[in-house]
Amino acid sequence: MPSGCQIEKLETTYFENPVDFRHEVIYFIIIDRFYDGHSDQDQRGEGSELEDSKGLYDRTRQDWGKYWGGNLQGVINKIDYLKQLGVTALWLSPLFEQVSDLQFSRAPMHGYWTRDFKRINPRFLKVGESNSISESETLKALVDTCHNAGIKVVLDIVCNHSSPDINGCKGVVLDDGTHLADYHRDDKDFYYHNGEITDWEDEYQLIHCEMMGLATFNEKNIEYRNYIKAAIKDWLDAGIDALRVDTLKHMPIWFWQEFSTEMKNHKPGLFMFGEYGFSKPWEQRSVEYANNIGMSILDFGLCDGIRFCMSGKEPGGFYQVEKVLAYDRVYHRANELVTFIDNHDMPRFLSIVSDKRLLDLALVLLLTLRGVPCLFYGTEQYLCNNTDGGQDPYNRPMMESWDNASHPFQLVQTLLRLRENNQALAYGSHNTAWVNEDFYLYTRNYRDSAVMVMVNKSEHEHVVNAEHIRMPDGDYICHLTGRTVSLSNGHLQGFGVPAKTAMVISVAGQPVQGQVVAVFQLNGFETQPGQSVAIVGSCDELGNWHHDQAYGMEYVNQNTWIASVAFDHDAARLVNFKFLVKQQGAEPIIEYVINRKLLLPEQGTIAVDCFWNAAA
Ligand code: NOJ
Repeated sequence: MPSGCQIEKLETTYFENPVDFRHEVIYFIIIDRFYDGHSDQDQRGEGSELEDSKGLYDRTRQDWGKYWGGNLQGVINKIDYLKQLGVTALWLSPLFEQVSDLQFSRAPMHGYWTRDFKRINPRFLKVGESNSISESETLKALVDTCHNAGIKVVLDIVCNHSSPDINGCKGVVLDDGTHLADYHRDDKDFYYHNGEITDWEDEYQLIHCEMMGLATFNEKNIEYRNYIKAAIKDWLDAGIDALRVDTLKHMPIWFWQEFSTEMKNHKPGLFMFGEYGFSKPWEQRSVEYANNIGMSILDFGLCDGIRFCMSGKEPGGFYQVEKVLAYDRVYHRANELVTFIDNHDMPRFLSIVSDKRLLDLALVLLLTLRGVPCLFYGTEQYLCNNTDGGQDPYNRPMMESWDNASHPFQLVQTLLRLRENNQALAYGSHNTAWVNEDFYLYTRNYRDSAVMVMVNKSEHEHVVNAEHIRMPDGDYICHLTGRTVSLSNGHLQGFGVPAKTAMVISVAGQPVQGQVVAVFQLNGFETQPGQSVAIVGSCDELGNWHHDQAYGMEYVNQNTWIASVAFDHDAARLVNFKFLVKQQGAEPIIEYVINRKLLLPEQGTIAVDCFWNAAA
């Protein structure tokens, strides 16, 4: 059957591993606190050069500021455990070579005080192993082991700063072993010299002053930019799949645009997400960054919402979560925000809410709400230390249990299997059927896939009487409790959900299948009731430019529509298309663009991210 596409099938492969990160589940590891994979004492640094005279390493693991001996081999040894859990991407704390000194009795076990961005921290390798990115056997083994297990590797990178003043030495940076810069002898203008930030509302200060005394790079210096970009490319060449980017807030938008463009040119399909500290959907600058720097951000807003809801630190219960989700339309891509309930910079969830049943409920929210969820290592084993309220460094205990039969492990595993098998969690809209401070009932919906979640955080049973639930009628078995839930006409009446319990039911639907599946997402047209978005284009699948045969998209939120389109005949061809907005009782609004062009790969799934072109 001839297609409307205009050029012959291409013979060459133009795409490599296109990545759709909305399906991923990230697991964040502080390397030093995860596992020591070296059985041999020498490899742990005892009596070796790594246990230096400055005493950065504490083999007894009592001194929280020092290295405790976790390493890359330790991560390799635990890949089977992580695979079983069901996570699909590992965010590793920074691997760069660090300054080798203590500041206020603390060593850079966290990885944020870099000395050489082109070398690996030798403490994470075998003693005597080359710490060059391209030569390290352990880095290669880690990447290969992860990839063989279907797990992506996310590197944590820092572009904003190098190291603080330690004994008169600050910001000394090497370029693959060769001296490059020194804050105190800054003849090449690598650094800003404006002192500490004093006013956190002042954008000039955020960018040009220091945070915690860290030597802050002068991004206007092209030599600095060339260095950092070359360094990160070396890591991408070593097989790193995605980047977590530190301190977005402290560098200008233009820098991030240049940086992300160059990284993505170097590695097409690269996913990047960054830390804009304490971002909120109602805080304009953080949203501006999220939408304009070519990468997603960590969703501090939802993290707060879930923590406030469960801890009661702020009033409102589940309305705290609803309030954040209600702002989703301000983001171009809310379903790519990286969501979390705790991390290495805040007390672990169990330090603020000691009731483990509430952590279970928070995990249900994290793993079923929109966004790409990120688990902090050990949460799946209730890892926690409450010293000093669980503040840094006590939020970074050594991982101590690998029990795959524990209740939290199995809870996470069950929910991750559901994420893997049900597209509604990666792509779907969020539909609240019932909410009050203590009880929340919502569905996630995509095409014919749906997941329904009920969470009761109160001390009492909640009797559900809800209507307009977007689930097909039927009897469902709850994934978490094994109980049967029966829906009829979208109603659930007189159904008791016990105190501090969550229930999850689902229908998996039929994912779109084809030689190529393109997941189109359109943002930037704020639809009103009665409007819907469709794709029209140059081939059969897209209606051959006939508006009435355009491919209908699914609503995600007012600002986001999504569609999975199967292409068989048109694989490896060029498709022309544009978006249009259908309106009840009126002519469609056609996008103001001559044609968008999409070169399809030969096979696989690709994400096609688009922003509405309005008439000038
Ligand atoms: C944010 C990181 O998450 C934090 O742990 C680090 O100390 C600062 N940035 C400085 O790099």
